[in-house]
Amino acid sequence: MALFISLEGIDGSGKSTQLRLLESYLRKHGVPLVIAREPGGTEVGNSIRQILLHSKNTGLTPVGELLLYYASRHQNLYENILPALAAGQWVLCDRFADASLAYQGYGRGINLDFIRRLNQEVVQQRMPNLTIYIDIEPLVGLLRARERNQKSQQDEGRFENESEEFFTKVREGYLKLAKENPLRIKTIDGNQPIEKVHRDIIRHIPV
Ligand code: ADP
Ligand code: TYD
Repeated sequence: MALFISLEGIDGSGKSTQLRLLESYLRKHGVPLVIAREPGGTEVGNSIRQILLHSKNTGLTPVGELLLYYASRHQNLYENILPALAAGQWVLCDRFADASLAYQGYGRGINLDFIRRLNQEVVQQRMPNLTIYIDIEPLVGLLRARERNQKSQQDEGRFENESEEFFTKVREGYLKLAKENPLRIKTIDGNQPIEKVHRDIIRHIPV
């Protein structure tokens, strides 16, 4: 069966690095797969991503932000994820619905039931089969993400301007979600060398 796998973690947890390693691992094992990301991954989604992540957009309201993430998610689901799974391809997605509960719910304080209802309408039953949550202390993640962004050409710094306190709430949210969904969400210690994190991740991958 084609699996839908998402990677989650606060900014700088090493998600993108691990997604690339997991992608090579799966390709080496002959698994047909597509890569998706949120926000983005489609033409419309990439435009939404620019609005969401540009540091000039300080006036975005929390609910406006949430709905933009869901607009991008719906597009991603119907354009990329569902067709790939129907064709027997695995999907590796850099973040999915858990990110909205963690960031907009626990981080920004939007009512969690509102986000869960939105999730029911938009994602329906298509949650990932497996979610890898890379856990890291907020300060470690922030320092890594800021260093990476300084080297990058794109301005995607809106979230990295958030405080350590914000990321502490997001992390607590992820840990709660992992506790509530122990079969789907696997927590990995992200404060280890890149190769060791990778080995811990592939223990949960059934190939
Ligand atoms: P994310 O996608 O979670 O924001 P990245 O994978 O882009 O994180 O990693 C952020 C930065 O931290 C990058 O410069 C990356 O090389 C570095 N990094 C990733 N994983 C580790 C690790 N386990 N130990 C030290 N540095 C790491
Ligand atoms: P991402 O590109 O994964 O950033 P990074 O590689 O730095 O981890 O995600 C962009 C930002 O969007 C990130 O700060 C988390 C945030 N985000 C939300 O707040 N809610 C969501 O639903 C998603 C998918 C992402």
